[in-house]
Amino acid sequence: MCGIVAYIGQKEAYPIVLKGLKRLEYRGYDSAGVALINNGLQVYKKKGKVAELEDHVSSKDMRSHIAIGHTRWATHGEPSDRNSHPHVSGNGKLAMIHNGIIENYAQLKQELLSKGHTFKSDTDTEVLIHFIEEIQQNNNCSLEEALRIALKRVVGAYVIVIVDEDHPDTLIAARKGSPLVIGVGKGEHFLASDASPIVEYTKEVVYVNDYEIAIIKADELILKNISNEIQTPYIQKLDIELAAIEKGGYDHFMLKEIFEQPQTIFDSLRGRLDAKKGILTIGGIREHAEMLSKAKRIIIVACGTSWHAGLVAEYMIEELCRIPVEVEYASEFRYRNPVVGPGDVIIAVSQSGETADTLVAIESAKQKGAIILGVCNVVGSSIARLSDAGVYTHAGPEIGVASTKAFTAQLAVLCLVGLKVAMLKGSITEQRFQHLLDELENIPEKVAATLKLNDRIKEIAAKYKDARDFLYLGRGYNFPVALEGALKLKEISYIHAEGYPAAEMKHGPIALVDENLPVVFVATRDSYYEKVVSNIQEIKARKGKVIAVITEGDQVIPGMADDIIVVPEADELVAPIISVIPMQLLAYHIGVLKGFDVDKPRNLAKSVTVE
Ligand code: AGP
Ligand code: GLU
Repeated sequence: MCGIVAYIGQKEAYPIVLKGLKRLEYRGYDSAGVALINNGLQVYKKKGKVAELEDHVSSKDMRSHIAIGHTRWATHGEPSDRNSHPHVSGNGKLAMIHNGIIENYAQLKQELLSKGHTFKSDTDTEVLIHFIEEIQQNNNCSLEEALRIALKRVVGAYVIVIVDEDHPDTLIAARKGSPLVIGVGKGEHFLASDASPIVEYTKEVVYVNDYEIAIIKADELILKNISNEIQTPYIQKLDIELAAIEKGGYDHFMLKEIFEQPQTIFDSLRGRLDAKKGILTIGGIREHAEMLSKAKRIIIVACGTSWHAGLVAEYMIEELCRIPVEVEYASEFRYRNPVVGPGDVIIAVSQSGETADTLVAIESAKQKGAIILGVCNVVGSSIARLSDAGVYTHAGPEIGVASTKAFTAQLAVLCLVGLKVAMLKGSITEQRFQHLLDELENIPEKVAATLKLNDRIKEIAAKYKDARDFLYLGRGYNFPVALEGALKLKEISYIHAEGYPAAEMKHGPIALVDENLPVVFVATRDSYYEKVVSNIQEIKARKGKVIAVITEGDQVIPGMADDIIVVPEADELVAPIISVIPMQLLAYHIGVLKGFDVDKPRNLAKSVTVE
């Protein structure tokens, strides 16, 4: 959601910023803009794609050694040229880009209007840059000082970057709640919302913390806290390669990421699982493992696909560890005044590690004394850094907006955590423990075998792509897979789809069933199998079309279903890692066949950094 890029150094800044904006396109946006200094401050912005901005400036002189660029995901004011960023101060000297929301912007705007300010846009962002300007003029102080004073009054979440026509050698940035990474090069600095625009130039990065202000020159980076105390920048090494953020011959990132899963699941287990020796090592929770095993209860907070991974983990952890687990939508958990305190363990599951709902949920739980365990994909992300302990999923950058490889890596990691805690607690037999380690070790190979069904799934996609609605059903461990299947289809193909526990179907959704309704059953062989077979009968009796994901060797369902997808056998606890693959491919192919931009579906953002 929203991308921020900036450059200062010896090179031409605009091409670097433009390329960076293209790398951030996956995050979701509706307009784009840049500002640079070349005979004074120049600002160009356009509703639409980055390519439209590029066309718009093609005849302009874009030479500059400093530039800021932005892709906007509108919150305050419709997507339009005038609401696009950068926004400019009243005197035309300061230009600012912003990611986030200034919650008290209306009050600030009133104050500024009464002082004679006029505004060109409807955004909260323009109010903030005028507010900073007003403070600077009243106090006759530096921009940095004015920013510090302004931020003390600002309520909300933000990353902002400002250029000042009078100081073309300096960028000023600040963050609270939204992500900002600074790449440290030789005599140059790169700023971005995530590492993808930076990785081709430098591997050395600094993650700016909340309430920090960065004063950045070509060869100097000063970090200060809001009380004006200098902070030592902590330089970390990026461990991603450029190839990881490019399509590598695939038509779409989503397809590439689906096909990467044998490797990414392997990576999520690597160094942690040694099935031969019967050993599990999870460095990130070493110090807290004992405490985890003594937890009164575990609350998993997450959103979207990560919430679905949390649901699977609930079943896993309750079964393996006998600890009560609740799974909450982060956005609800945060605001419903939940009973939470010392002795509770919160597991925050998030691909991006930046989801605002999840971030604020764990902030408040932490204040109340709960221990936070983060399961994140993006290294150095806000949730990972706020957590007391954490396990990275190591799935590599996920660019497609629809989460695929991050989900299967989350399942693998959450299973490892459950097994580790169960072993410490003594709530699992040695035999079962060893069996599940073996099962996990074999997963990458079984996922590779499932991916071979791609052509078959494409045929099924072609057959059902014009359906108006879809129903996805599953029970037990496969119930969250049904939810995930429905979410994938909605996101990518814009077809209305609902996921339900298969048995719950008869309490309402069965009214939808007729000969036009495709019903996807996740019906692999597990302890619910017989019951699911009955549910398939109930759909067939009402002439629904059944597409069933079944286990090799199933003799029953092939005689009932209209279409079958046969996946390798696995223990029910790890089976979702396999059964979700056909869900991902089905949604992908339907989306592509319908001609949609599956990597960047409408209205969606990869990283949802506003509440
Ligand atoms: C998944 O396909 C979605 N685009 C979305 O539901 C996502 O899972 C959700 O926004 C949570 O994101 P996170 O894992 O980065 O926290
Ligand atoms: N709230 C700002 C706006 O609507 C910033 C949105 C964003 O993060 O892109 O312009």
